[in-house]
Amino acid sequence: MSAPWIAPSILSANFARLGAEVDAVLAAGADIVHFDVMDNHYVPNLTVGPLVCAALRKHGVKAPIDVHLMVDPVDRIVPDFAAAGATLISFHPEASAHVDRTIALIREHGCQPGLAFNPATPLEWLDYTIDKIDLVLLMSVNPGFGGQQFIPGVLSKIAEVRRRVRASGREIRIEVDGGIKADNIAAVARAGADTFVAGSAIFGSADYAATIRALRAGIAAGTQAAASAD
Ligand code: DX5
Ligand code: ZN
Repeated sequence: MSAPWIAPSILSANFARLGAEVDAVLAAGADIVHFDVMDNHYVPNLTVGPLVCAALRKHGVKAPIDVHLMVDPVDRIVPDFAAAGATLISFHPEASAHVDRTIALIREHGCQPGLAFNPATPLEWLDYTIDKIDLVLLMSVNPGFGGQQFIPGVLSKIAEVRRRVRASGREIRIEVDGGIKADNIAAVARAGADTFVAGSAIFGSADYAATIRALRAGIAAGTQAAASAD
């Protein structure tokens, strides 16, 4: 299993000073930047696009940028995000007419493809894609907004994805997104996640470093519990 990554979602950052906010969470110990892209079509909200991703790179952000596309259609915008400096690009399979083609497109543009699952989206989408993706993104809220409640039913889904990833023999990250806080992150880690998105938990706190430390402690507790149950 990959070393755990904490991925602050910029959705809850102060957009008026985004560069400084991203610098601050990275200095506070975050591993990657989770970049939520919403289009007021696939989800009922509108955020930022490739220009803002490129601006973060120009500002000097070196950490991986984890682009979470909540847009329909997907393919039109993929090359733009690759050119803007995205590292990983995840998309929702229902939003693409040709999922295999979209995965290939992301790879061809030099980025790592990820498949994103809403809470009610079945895992069958992995049947013919698991050998081609680098990340499975499991939503633990319905996409569109930060600050929602974690949906506990996703825990068994994380465990099922962990089984599938193990069986594939490939290095695939399992990222969980939505409602993660210091008091539930251990359960998410225990279920088998290794990449943890946290928006409001981090950006809504007064001390980013203390919050990220608390999240890491939760991950360690959950990982230990999983290991001793094995
Ligand atoms: C929701 C986004 C999430 C969201 C997470 O559609 O994909 O990344 O910002 O925010 P919190 O951690 O506040 O639930
Ligand atoms: Zn997200």
